[in-house]
Order: sequence, then C-alpha cells, then structure tokens
Amino acid sequence: MSVNIYALPPLPYPYDALEPSISKQIMELHHTKHHQAYVTNLNKALEASSNALAQGKLQDSAAQLSAIRFNGGGHINHSLFWENLAPSSSPDSSIAAAPKLIGAIKSTWGSLEKFQEVFGAALLGIQGSGWGWLVKEAVTGQLRIVTLANQEAVVVGDTPLFGVDMWEHAYYLQYLNGKAAYVDNIWKVINWKTAEARYVGSREDAFRALKAHI
Ligand SMILES: [Fe+2]
Repeated sequence: MSVNIYALPPLPYPYDALEPSISKQIMELHHTKHHQAYVTNLNKALEASSNALAQGKLQDSAAQLSAIRFNGGGHINHSLFWENLAPSSSPDSSIAAAPKLIGAIKSTWGSLEKFQEVFGAALLGIQGSGWGWLVKEAVTGQLRIVTLANQEAVVVGDTPLFGVDMWEHAYYLQYLNGKAAYVDNIWKVINWKTAEARYVGSREDAFRALKAHI
C-alpha cells in the first residue's frame, strides 16, 4: 500500500537570520532535531498504520492514530511557523507588507498594539506546551486568536495566518524562564508578507509529501 512520505522542508532563511530575537542554536536544533523528529515519527506511524490495514488488522492501524495526529500536527505547525517568520531586516517583517490584514486587525481589536497585547497574553496563558495562532475563520472571515495544546493543528477550514511556538524548546536555551521576553521579541520577526498572503487567500502552504510505495 502506498502512503505519503513527508520530508523536512528547508528553512527559507539561514539559521542565524532571526538573531537576536531567536538564536542560531535554537533555530538549528528546533529545525534539524525537533521538527525532523515529528516528520520521522509521522512517517513511521503512517507506515505502520498502512501496513496493518493491508493485513486486515484494523485495531493495530487504529492504534497509530494518536501518533499520526500528534506528529502530523507537529509537522504542519512547524512548517507554517518557519514560513511566518522573517529576519527583522527584511521588508517582509514590516507591517507595511500586510495592509489588508493590519486593517482587519485594527477594526477587530482597535489597534495593532492592543492586538499584540491580547495575543501576547494568550501566548503567556498557555499551560504547558502549545501554540498561539492568529486565525481567519472559515465561515465568518473574522479574525480570531486561538491557542492549542501540544501539537494540535488549527481546525481544518480555518486559515492560520501566523503562529508562535510556545514549547520550551522554542525559547528556553536563549530566554530560560523569560517567556515574556521571547513573546515581546517575536514581533520583530513575524513575516507579515506571508500573513497577508494567507489572509487574502493568495498563498497555499504545502507540507511536503513525496509519493512513495512502501
Ligand atoms: Fe517547536
């Protein structure tokens, strides 16, 4: 039976490109170790599930679902995250790159500063590991701040515009327990160009799948 095999996507910038907001060491470990582990374990779970199904072992296949959900979410979330960051020196990290989205943020929260305050509070309110996302709702088209535990992915249909990884592996080596400073500094490296493209629907984020026979 053939299944999709996923691969680690390359970062769209060098490992040191987000300094000083995010250190080279964190980026390198986060990408090559943490994200890679989600990809590796996703592929293993997909293969095990597929093989069990091929042998008529539904119970064994179903036992892989939680690993597929966790590691699949990890792959999706990190793939979105890398693309929604950009060096602070890049024009992509300027709010001028997101005129429509910034307008919608202002009409929703009153000002960009107020939105950043509410979003930051949501990030710091996450208990344990998780993510915070700015999402465009599928039905209403409205903006909403969503926090999700562990590696849960944004609900299918809603569009994640940008997310912030609040797992300790995303900041601890640099910020230690200073989570608030990580949240403050992440604003300097948000890729507003990507967020705008996701908001207006002109960008399709892909999670690399290589068709293969197993
Ligand atoms: Fe992460």
